[in-house]
Amino acid sequence: MERIAVSNLDFDISRITLGTWAIGGFMWAGTDEERSIDTILKAIETGVTTIDTAPVYGFGLSEQIVGKAIRQYGSREKVEIATKAGLQWDENQRNITRNSSARRILQEVEASLDRLQTDYIDIYQIHWPDYQVDFEESASVLKQLYDDGVIRAIGVSNFSAAEMDEFRKTAPIHTCQPPYNLFEREAEENDSVITYCKSNRISLLTYGAICRGLLTGKMRPGQKFPKGDLRRIDPKFSDPERFAAYLETVEELNRYAKEQLDSTVIYLAVRWLLDQGIDSPIWGARRPEQVTFDRVSGWKISRDQMDDIECIVRKRIDRFENPHYMAPPK
Ligand SMILES: NC(=O)c1ccc[n+]([C@@H]2O[C@H](COP(=O)([O-])OP(=O)(O)OC[C@H]3O[C@@H](n4cnc5c(N)ncnc54)[C@H](OP(=O)(O)O)[C@@H]3O)[C@@H](O)[C@H]2O)c1
Repeated sequence: MERIAVSNLDFDISRITLGTWAIGGFMWAGTDEERSIDTILKAIETGVTTIDTAPVYGFGLSEQIVGKAIRQYGSREKVEIATKAGLQWDENQRNITRNSSARRILQEVEASLDRLQTDYIDIYQIHWPDYQVDFEESASVLKQLYDDGVIRAIGVSNFSAAEMDEFRKTAPIHTCQPPYNLFEREAEENDSVITYCKSNRISLLTYGAICRGLLTGKMRPGQKFPKGDLRRIDPKFSDPERFAAYLETVEELNRYAKEQLDSTVIYLAVRWLLDQGIDSPIWGARRPEQVTFDRVSGWKISRDQMDDIECIVRKRIDRFENPHYMAPPK
């Protein structure tokens, strides 16, 4: 697995990051600890040493499982943990709200270190911008944690270019985590987050690489999801007309991948991100058999093939929509 430096810092990450939201169970209809640990260990074996998690993923459970897996692996220093701060929830684990106050971040970092069984975090990201707190306040506390060596890189997620600009008046940003995949392209539109990051040496760890499974080629018309699975409320999956347009596009992309790239749509989708210059697309997996990350290595999509792929996508998708339904209330 290729590796890439984080921003202008002296450590690197794998070109694929393992996403562990589903491993937390919440919004993914439950989890299985042993299977999750096997998934993480298999990812590390294949060279995917960078693991993205967050306190809110299963309200601590994802971080706990990541911590157990790394402990079982035995070499903490060979793994890069990316976790987050800035969301809180009530005791019923329902009402998730933004809170990036210094007090909250300082509480969260201690709780994360504890769950992850470590004394440092490689990449520490503000999960969603909090408009009730001055960015200066959250940036200052992250800067302090960075200066103290508790975190090795400062990251933000779901921030616009203008918001990053504001935050950087107080602290550097080393990584940014927007949603980005063939069907969710806001990061490249308007005051592009991607352009901003590339011109400011901010590493891009983009989420939803395979659009929550839509770009795997395994979805079928009338696809059913279990109770508690977020795809039941995701408009891409729940609106039959839109879902049909996506499925037809995926089918055509799959044909193209087979004929032109000797691959399949899932690897085309991730290779497409890598060849757009994304540093490390985050690929969510929760079963060992989904850890097929090595199949995106050793080949590239040419400029002409990129154009063909764009034509296939734009034939049926006339408007790219971000997964706005995931955003906690402002
Ligand atoms: N910062 C943020 O606000 C934010 C938001 C969302 C996600 N994220 C991060 O990004 C990560 C990735 O996003 P995501 O998990 O939402 O979506 P994703 O990576 O686009 O899709 C993950 C889903 O695709 C399916 N899958 C994965 N590998 C597969 C394979 N080899 N073959 C067939 N199906 C496969 C699995 O679904 P099934 O198990 O159901 O088959 C898996 O749960 C998250 O885990 C999280 O770390 C961050």
